[in-house]
Amino acid sequence: MRVAMIGTGYVGLVSGTCFSEFGHSVVCVDNDRSKIERLLGGEIPIYEPGLDDLVARNVRSGHLGFTTDLAQAVRDAEVVFIAVGTPSRRGDGHADLSYVFEAVRQVAMAADGYRLVVTKSTVPVGTGAKVKALLAETRPDLPFDVASNPEFLREGSAIEDFMRPDRVVVGTETARARELMTELYRPLFLAETPIVHTTIESAELIKYAANAFLATKITFINEVADLCEKVGANVQDIARGIGLDGRIGRKFLHAGPGFGGSCFPKDTRALVSSAQEYNAPLSLVEQVVASNEARKRRMADRVIAAAGGSLAGKTVGVLGLTFKPNTDDMREAPSLDIVPALIRAGATVRAYDPEGMAEARRLLDRVVWAEDAYDAVTGADVAVLVTEWNQFRALDLDRVKAAMKAPVMVDLRNVYKPEEMAARGFAYSSIGRPAAGLG
Ligand code: UDX
Repeated sequence: MRVAMIGTGYVGLVSGTCFSEFGHSVVCVDNDRSKIERLLGGEIPIYEPGLDDLVARNVRSGHLGFTTDLAQAVRDAEVVFIAVGTPSRRGDGHADLSYVFEAVRQVAMAADGYRLVVTKSTVPVGTGAKVKALLAETRPDLPFDVASNPEFLREGSAIEDFMRPDRVVVGTETARARELMTELYRPLFLAETPIVHTTIESAELIKYAANAFLATKITFINEVADLCEKVGANVQDIARGIGLDGRIGRKFLHAGPGFGGSCFPKDTRALVSSAQEYNAPLSLVEQVVASNEARKRRMADRVIAAAGGSLAGKTVGVLGLTFKPNTDDMREAPSLDIVPALIRAGATVRAYDPEGMAEARRLLDRVVWAEDAYDAVTGADVAVLVTEWNQFRALDLDRVKAAMKAPVMVDLRNVYKPEEMAARGFAYSSIGRPAAGLG
């Protein structure tokens, strides 16, 4: 099949590349000329393991191309995906759909016959109907179908998530649209991936409900972790003890500094706004948003406490800045709350991240940028593990200890074991587990 993918951000680039790997003929479109030039030159603008090889292979085989010429790409395609950004609108948390509608308008203008227009961007319920109206209004002469095909891929394992998803969700209105979507995903159905066929409204809402549910799960265990600290319980035992109940499940029960990233914060806020607008408020999700934001702001207090109550004149070594490992993405990362709070409390912050440094330099001031983990903790009074990159899981702890002024570690990802850290002579605190070696 011939596919045009409008928008070469995270979702567009990964989905377009994976569709080409399925054997479809895909052209990815972006209005950012320099981005398209970089892609044509074989340079991948995001860090996603495995994506560079997959892009190179499919470009070579002629299945994948890149262009700024939206009109030509639409004329050549049977199915047009909209995968442009839907950022949070300033002020009210609603998703900003201006890029989506502008792309749809351009698609309509360029089309010379029937097209199936599919939204892959995360869009609030009701957007599909608006897309349909806009297509009809712009080109009353042409028959269009619309579909909603939300994407559930996680940064860092996006290709695996696309190629081996738990399910594919497709919202359509006509038999023709349903057939085209089924054809597009045929390689997955051969692998017996369940396909959930729904209306467009349901497909749109499934994406938000899934993200809000996962965000709720994380927030739940984070609040339980706080209680664990007060009563001397261990949150990892709680997570295992409840997670082995198949109705609950073990995934997404890792307590930490609060969720960040490009999806959960934005999508929970947008869902809250939509629900309020339709007068069916999701009070539970409202609370999740508030609890998570407050949590991220509170994390620096743990570092201050570990330093004995004051950071004035002290040095903090920060390990990890991205919102999670295996990405260079800093969007809504807990570090963006933690680092400035440490600096405000009087600390000198030395920080290192394996992939996020370029973006972090843009977003954070007055930080001493370190060469590696050991450089970050050199002369530090406290080390803070903020993102659980593999290289921070395998630190040479004796070297860390020798480099630090005092062996104090705050582990916001529960990477290390409290008793082992105490045995190695560290004063160690983590999330929802008994502290060790302190006082
Ligand atoms: C998420 C969804 O998982 C994906 O389905 C959707 O399409 C986009 O949003 P992503 O943002 O890439 O993907 O990352 P994810 O691995 O889900 O983690 C999100 C945040 O939650 C991170 O900040 C992570 O550190 C945090 N998290 C996750 C926890 O704190 N605890 C957990 O148990 C799981």
